[in-house]
Amino acid sequence: MIRRRRRNFFIFLLILILLYIFIHYPYVTYSRSHLNLFDKIHSEDNLYVTPKYCFTKTEKKNIRRAIIVHFPIERSSVYISELKWLYLSWIETIQNQPSDWQTDLVIYSLPSSLLDELGCYEYNNKLLKNNCIRINYNSLWDKTKNNNELLRLIQIHVPKWCRHLDSLGILLENSNFLNQYDYILRTDIDVFLTPHFAHYIPFDCSFQIGLGGYSLDYTLHKLSRIAQTLNLLDVNLTHVGSTWYGPPQQIALVGRLALWLSVWLCQNEFTLVEKDQRLSILSWPQWYIGVISMYASHLAINHYAGRGQIKLIQKPYLIDYSCTTNTSFNEVEIIHIHSWHTNQMFSKFLFKNGSYDEILSKKTQWNTSYSLDFILRIAWQSNQMTTKELYHLKSQI
Ligand SMILES: *[C@@H]1O[C@H](CO)[C@@H](O)[C@H](O)[C@H]1NC(C)=O
Ligand SMILES: *[C@@H]1O[C@H](CO)[C@@H](O)[C@H](O)[C@H]1NC(C)=O
Ligand SMILES: *[C@@H]1O[C@H](CO)[C@@H](O)[C@H](O)[C@H]1NC(C)=O
Ligand SMILES: *[C@@H]1O[C@H](CO)[C@@H](O)[C@H](O)[C@H]1NC(C)=O
Repeated sequence: MIRRRRRNFFIFLLILILLYIFIHYPYVTYSRSHLNLFDKIHSEDNLYVTPKYCFTKTEKKNIRRAIIVHFPIERSSVYISELKWLYLSWIETIQNQPSDWQTDLVIYSLPSSLLDELGCYEYNNKLLKNNCIRINYNSLWDKTKNNNELLRLIQIHVPKWCRHLDSLGILLENSNFLNQYDYILRTDIDVFLTPHFAHYIPFDCSFQIGLGGYSLDYTLHKLSRIAQTLNLLDVNLTHVGSTWYGPPQQIALVGRLALWLSVWLCQNEFTLVEKDQRLSILSWPQWYIGVISMYASHLAINHYAGRGQIKLIQKPYLIDYSCTTNTSFNEVEIIHIHSWHTNQMFSKFLFKNGSYDEILSKKTQWNTSYSLDFILRIAWQSNQMTTKELYHLKSQI
């Protein structure tokens, strides 16, 4: 009798336990996956990747650097103009840089005849300097390496139309390849390298950025609150530009954190409506998932700058300079100009739909020590040339 009762008691207890697990199961897995993500976000907090050597303004021999960009070939007919003007400004860079320097243009893309015509091959002759190299790159959402957890989470949580995240995704590829360089300029294709870039590097092992335009006070408060939620340091760096110029290991470090943070943001900080391809734009500029790479980079750069893992220098005009201001290169130090979305001169949209053709075709004198004249010349001249002609020009250097 007593034994029977005891058995019933145990069965009852078992049912209670199962019931408890059943009710709490979603919660248990939910918090566990968040704990993992939190760990991942902080997993490289103690990784200090200092360059082998710190070049200074007076010690700068045999510099090897790479400009790295993502080129989506499925949209190559849209972006061909940008690629051509970046390419022409790269040609002028290698013409003007110190003779012992090397600047490679590294394009992450699937194979394309367009890149072949520009001489951007997957395996370029390592003995030659100043190569255009193509790294085979499949978009984050098209990769099939399912053993990579970061990739898996991106594919689950980040909407596929947020393709701009591929500009960080390229940093997950083949880091040994990038580590052979002293410096990396990670940027977009709609940019111009100015004459000053030819001999400018981030001295004293710094990591340099310019200004970006994604943040209202509302956005900054929100990012700052998220930093607190995630226990990230926030050193009040704002308007973090989208282009980074620094040592390769540090560029990759920041990129990895920014990708983990993108997963977190999509999972926790954007609503379903805010993730919808058509509706999300209504949240610009307060909280727009289309610029998630900027938000994630903002958090990552503040955190690592605060921890001293990168020696961050933000120079307002140096990088990502405005494409609508006409400034003398002799007065302001500018190495890189970004063509933002604008309808003012210089607007990439108006340039590409031919609105400037008439003015530019008549222009015979370019005052190229001025930023606006400089980018107009590069854009116009590169557009007058075929990809083969550009390659021909490059191979004559
Ligand atoms: C952060 O910077 C902004 C302007 O750049 C300034 O107004 C604000 O007071 C700063 N906040 C802190 C906590 O330093
Ligand atoms: C180019 O686009 C602008 C605005 O997007 C428009 O006003 C203009 O008419 C277009 N020009 C041509 C030649 O299509
Ligand atoms: C460029 O502009 C400066 C300042 O306005 C002027 O002194 C110079 O002569 C101009 N050069 C050309 C080639 O137009
Ligand atoms: C930029 O300024 C220079 C010097 O004043 C001038 O020569 C040039 O025409 C200007 N360019 C544009 C596109 O406004």
